[in-house]
Amino acid sequence: MEHEKATDMEFMLKANLKCSGSLSEAVSSDELTEFVNYCNAELLKKGAPPGCGAEVVSWAIVADKLELEIVSDRFVRAHDALLRLKNEFGKFLGKHRIGIRGMEINDYEITMDWDTELKLKKLPFVKAIKQEAEKLKLFLDIDEFLLEKRIPDRIIKLLDDKKEAIKWKGKSEHWELLFESAKKPFHFDKDPTEEMAKRGWIRHAAGRGQFIYGPQSTKIFRAFERILVDEIFTPLGYEEMIFPKFVTWDVWKRSGHAKGIYPEAYYVCTPKTRDPEYWEEVIDYYKVTNEVPLDMIMERIENVGGMCYAQCPPSWVFLQGKTMPDDILPIKVFDRSGTSHRYESGGIHGIERLDEFHRVEILWMGTKEQVIAHSKQLQDTYRYIFNEILDIEWREAWVTPWFMAQEGKSGLSELKEVGTIDYEAVLPYSGKLLEFQNVSVNGDKYPKGFNVKLQSGEELWSGCSGVGLQRWTAVFLAQKGFDTDKWPEKFRTAVGELPEVFRFL
Ligand code: SER
Ligand code: ZN
Repeated sequence: MEHEKATDMEFMLKANLKCSGSLSEAVSSDELTEFVNYCNAELLKKGAPPGCGAEVVSWAIVADKLELEIVSDRFVRAHDALLRLKNEFGKFLGKHRIGIRGMEINDYEITMDWDTELKLKKLPFVKAIKQEAEKLKLFLDIDEFLLEKRIPDRIIKLLDDKKEAIKWKGKSEHWELLFESAKKPFHFDKDPTEEMAKRGWIRHAAGRGQFIYGPQSTKIFRAFERILVDEIFTPLGYEEMIFPKFVTWDVWKRSGHAKGIYPEAYYVCTPKTRDPEYWEEVIDYYKVTNEVPLDMIMERIENVGGMCYAQCPPSWVFLQGKTMPDDILPIKVFDRSGTSHRYESGGIHGIERLDEFHRVEILWMGTKEQVIAHSKQLQDTYRYIFNEILDIEWREAWVTPWFMAQEGKSGLSELKEVGTIDYEAVLPYSGKLLEFQNVSVNGDKYPKGFNVKLQSGEELWSGCSGVGLQRWTAVFLAQKGFDTDKWPEKFRTAVGELPEVFRFL
């Protein structure tokens, strides 16, 4: 027979099928040979191209076990072959009044071509990894339960993802200039955060990347919000909602954030119990030492999710599993009810990059056409605001969609329908560009993830836009400075008098 060999993956599996009675007594060796031959000829080849599939290369009966060694290519992976065999063997044994009790997985090795530079140190359910001569060999550590859950397939998929990620890393993130505003006069050349701090408009809070916003800066934030209300929410038919600010893992699984949020999340934990006795040792320790015993606390709490990160994801639970009539579309809502949190590590800088920030999240949904059309409308309105009210210099760029970047999939999407527009403005004091907001069309990602449907059966799409209040402030003050006489008239009016409340001795 012509042996067209699939070389890119090889599987070698040693496993036992454990039975409820002694096989050597119940089944003749001839019968078994016939069974295995049938499997090799048909069962383990089903669905594979000619000459491909899986094969039992050796077998033996030891008391109540059928010991098997299966090798295969990628067409019928050895673990699938084993599951097929288990079924078929169950039927075969039925005649002999014996049942299958379970599977023991002794060895499972997967060998595949590996032509990327990526070095693998550790993989889930893999006890050893060998990388040599463009081959990758995995020694799996799995049992029956994990095999039935198709963990080997997930590991292979994970490797594909990692290879893909490497390709994207090579490419620079997608960035394409869409629009550039006219040059505008700058009235300031210093770091606005430092100036705000000097003037007592803000003060560093106790936490990293966290500020307390004094009356003056808060008034500026509120003026920005009023501009959004007057220019966007009222004329474009938005209603306000309040989105949760604690996010569970289930939400992040559905939104995709569970694929990559870990290095940036602010984790939230709850007590394992609120029984005061359970906490007495902690309380006593604190009272005696005046130190908070973090280790003791860690033992008594469990993680349940994290703080708001992208703002819109937890709102989708409102619609989860629902079907909506088409005639209520497009739906437009916004949330400004609280903070977002990201562990920015070394990246924090003034109010430009914070661990705790305030953002107005704008969310709209409808048919594909409605969502794209509304995105255009928003873009026009933003241009009006930046040109006519804030008078800033900025540009707009088509970039890797925020949700892909946040899932670790940077570099994807060159499609023009689904994706993100980043708004960037130069900070004259550093010459650097700051992303100060975005507008995204997220396609059917959220409705799919949260299982939201339309009565007509048409695809539901959504979009979102995050207005970072600190970022708007940073851009505006960096370009226009602190001399309010030099501020554009419309914005000066929108803000009003800056209140002076505190004085210090
Ligand atoms: N949800 C979007 C983001 O996190 C827009 O705010 O960037
Ligand atoms: Zn969003």
